[in-house]
Amino acid sequence: MGSMGDWPEPVVCVQSLSESGNHVIPDQYIKPPPERPSTCNLTDTNIPIIDLAGLVDSREETMSRILEACREWGFFQLVNHGVKTDLVDRVREIWREFFHEPMDVKKKYANSPKTYEGFGSRLGVEKGAILDWSDYYYLNYHPFGHTKWPADPPYLRDVMEEYSKEILRLGEVLLKVFSRNLGLKEDCLQNAFGGKDAGACLRANYYPKCPQPDLTLGLSSHSDPGGMTFLLPDMRVSGLQIRKDDQWITVKPEPNGIIVNIGDQLQVLSNAIYKSVEHRVVVNPDEERVSLAYFYNPRNDMLIQPVSELVTSNRPALYPPMTFEEYRRFIRTKGPKGKLQVDSLKSQN
Ligand code: OGA
Ligand code: NI
Repeated sequence: MGSMGDWPEPVVCVQSLSESGNHVIPDQYIKPPPERPSTCNLTDTNIPIIDLAGLVDSREETMSRILEACREWGFFQLVNHGVKTDLVDRVREIWREFFHEPMDVKKKYANSPKTYEGFGSRLGVEKGAILDWSDYYYLNYHPFGHTKWPADPPYLRDVMEEYSKEILRLGEVLLKVFSRNLGLKEDCLQNAFGGKDAGACLRANYYPKCPQPDLTLGLSSHSDPGGMTFLLPDMRVSGLQIRKDDQWITVKPEPNGIIVNIGDQLQVLSNAIYKSVEHRVVVNPDEERVSLAYFYNPRNDMLIQPVSELVTSNRPALYPPMTFEEYRRFIRTKGPKGKLQVDSLKSQN
C-alpha cells in the first residue's frame, strides 16, 4: 500500500485515455468478471420520489414516506426542494464546462491523496489497484476557511457558493426529519454532526465515453462514508445504479430532482435503522456523463456511535465509536470498495 503522501503510481487522466481513440481500455481498468456491469441482474423499478413541499401540505404522510425511503432504500429523489431550477441547471453546466477546459488548465489543480482537494483521476492509494473510468474535482466547502476553487470558468465560485448554501439548508431540514422519524429530538442528529460546524464537501464527477463499457465501471460499488449525499445526476445520460437485494436498479432522474442517499455515518448513528446502500456508476460508449455529489458530513472530530436512545437490550450498539476523521482515513486509503469497508472495520474492533 502507498503512503497517504502521494499516489503510488503516475496518475493517468481518464479523459486522455478516452480521447486517444483506442478501442481497447488498459488492463488496469478491467474489473474482475463478477463486478462487470453485464454480469449483474438489472431490474426496472425506480427509487422513491419525495415531494418536500409535502412537509407543509401533508406532513404525516411525507414523514412516513421519508422514513420508509431511509429504511428500505437508503436513497430517494427529492423534488420541490426549493432550489431554483435555474441554479441547478447552472451548477450542472458549470462543471461540464470545467471538465472541457484544456488539460493543462485542469492539471494545475492536480490533487494528492493527503486531502484529495483538486483535480484527480484515482481514489485510494493501493498500488496496482483496478481503477475506475472517471476523473473528478474534489473540494471542501464547510466549515473550512479556504477552498481550492478553480479560477475557470470565472463564475464557478459564485454559482457554487449559492448552491452550497442551499445544500446546507437542505441538510439541516432533512436531519430534523430524520431525527423525528427515529423518535428523537429534532436537533439530535444535527448536534451529532457538530451543529453549525457540520461538514460539506463536494465531488464533481466526469465519466468520459468508454470504448468497452461492459468491462469497467465509472465508479466502483461503494457506500458513501459520510452523513448524507445530495447528487445532481446528468439529465442527458443515466449511469447511477443502486443495489437492492441482489439486483441493480438504474436510477431514472426526475426533472429538477436531487438524489439523496444515506451515508455510513447515519447508518451508524441510527444503529442501522437507516441504510447506507451500495451504488455504482456504469459508463457509456457514446456519451460522456457529468454529476455532482455534495456530501453533508459530521465535523471531522465528532465521535460517531449509535444514538443512546436507539440502543436497547434487544438491539445493542452495532458499531464501536469512531471519529469521522478516523473512519474517512480508512476509506481514503482503501478506495471505493463497498460495504466491505464497514464490515472489516467492525471486525478490527
Ligand atoms: C459519488 C457517487 C454517483 C454518480 O460520487 O459518491 O456515488 O452518479 N456518484 O456520479
Ligand atoms: Ni456515492
